Amino acid sequence: MAESKLKLGIAGLGRGFTVMLPMIAFHPRLEVVAAADTRQSARDQFEKDFDGISFESVEAMCAESDAHAIYIATPHHFHADHTVAAAQAGKHILVEKPMALTVEDCTRMIDAAADNGVHLLVGHSHSYDAPIVKARQIIESGEYGPLQMIAGLNYTDFIYRPRRPDELDSTQGGGVVYSQAAHQLDIARFLAGGVIETVYATTGNYDPQRPTEGAYSAMLKFASGVVANLTFSGYGHFDSDEFCDWRGETGGQKDPANYGAARRVIAELGSMEEEGKFKADRGYGGASAAPFPAEPPKGLSHEHFGLFVLSCRDADIRPLPQSVRVYADDEVIEHPLDPPSVPRGEVIDELAAAILDGVAPVHTGEWGRATFEACAAVYRSAEEGGEVKLSYQLKAR
Ligand SMILES: NC(=O)c1ccc[n+]([C@@H]2O[C@H](COP(=O)([O-])OP(=O)(O)OC[C@H]3O[C@@H](n4cnc5c(N)ncnc54)[C@H](O)[C@@H]3O)[C@@H](O)[C@H]2O)c1
Repeated sequence: MAESKLKLGIAGLGRGFTVMLPMIAFHPRLEVVAAADTRQSARDQFEKDFDGISFESVEAMCAESDAHAIYIATPHHFHADHTVAAAQAGKHILVEKPMALTVEDCTRMIDAAADNGVHLLVGHSHSYDAPIVKARQIIESGEYGPLQMIAGLNYTDFIYRPRRPDELDSTQGGGVVYSQAAHQLDIARFLAGGVIETVYATTGNYDPQRPTEGAYSAMLKFASGVVANLTFSGYGHFDSDEFCDWRGETGGQKDPANYGAARRVIAELGSMEEEGKFKADRGYGGASAAPFPAEPPKGLSHEHFGLFVLSCRDADIRPLPQSVRVYADDEVIEHPLDPPSVPRGEVIDELAAAILDGVAPVHTGEWGRATFEACAAVYRSAEEGGEVKLSYQLKAR
């Protein structure tokens, strides 16, 4: 494509979009031209902030706007249909994780993109994070011998953030397995070669007031011989950002004295109805939404998804928010990273390079399906009690 900027349409102006907003507003290769959302207040806000055109349905935006690509950040269960609609309208696609809720839907999305000659990328996921990419470069340099073992651990307050009812309903894709394992397993795949042979896992559903999976523990065996042990808990007690210089997932400084804040907010709201309203009010176009950023946020470090220790034969490697640290035989070596110019810029870098420059992307539909398959295997293994063999895996590019 001869153009230097990517014209982007946004499907779904909710929390996912809000997290991406600083990047979407300031990425030098983007021009945001359109948005679709069922909420009038969000559409009004979008027209004011971006001087773009807005639509009530994703299908109408795909048919009528001149966007080259659509970022799909509607709730999980719409991802497949919205992706197919965009592909059929000839738009390239960036779809949020989880890519879909069944392997069959992932395949339907991949086929729609291929049939219509458009790129399909899955993201944001934390495998795009610069410290993860740097850690992989260090591993691939071979200096410390082959990667042998990955330990990943993330303890957050995910379950006690304000939620819509379907986000706490496992049958509708709620809970942490599809939403959060989609990051942690994606990182492990990106670092360990991509091809998982088996998954053995348990899940935890510990709070009857929030009756969905809030925790899991998974062991992945890779074709490369690497074994990954990954644990996640969203129950808002221990906070593993303590191991990440007290930087939060999106790179901001955290105050450990603010212990228990998420639970306190939920307790004050009292009902799911109030919680849904609170989430909508704080969301884009809502009554108490954050103002549109005048400039890119300052003082951020890189994003992360908790603690990772990557054990090579001759060193342990830790991706951190501001560096990658190598614990070698005789010394600890710090590889500092420049701070990000825009948060999550790596996602649009990859999308724009694919569409405008013809560079093959890493996070393709096939890649996203392989990560989804692994997340679904976490559920299956937990239910059936044994190792689950995978069949849609592919090598990391
Ligand atoms: N990568 C990340 O860090 C990250 C963070 C948050 C959310 N997400 C992902 O983003 C997606 C959305 O989650 P969320 O938390 O933003 O939810 P949300 O409820 O905050 O936002 C969804 C938005 O989509 C709109 N919408 C719903 N149905 C629609 C339809 N049929 N057509 C057009 N618009 C519609 C809603 O009005 C809302 O504005 C999920 O798949 C989630 O996993 C990713």
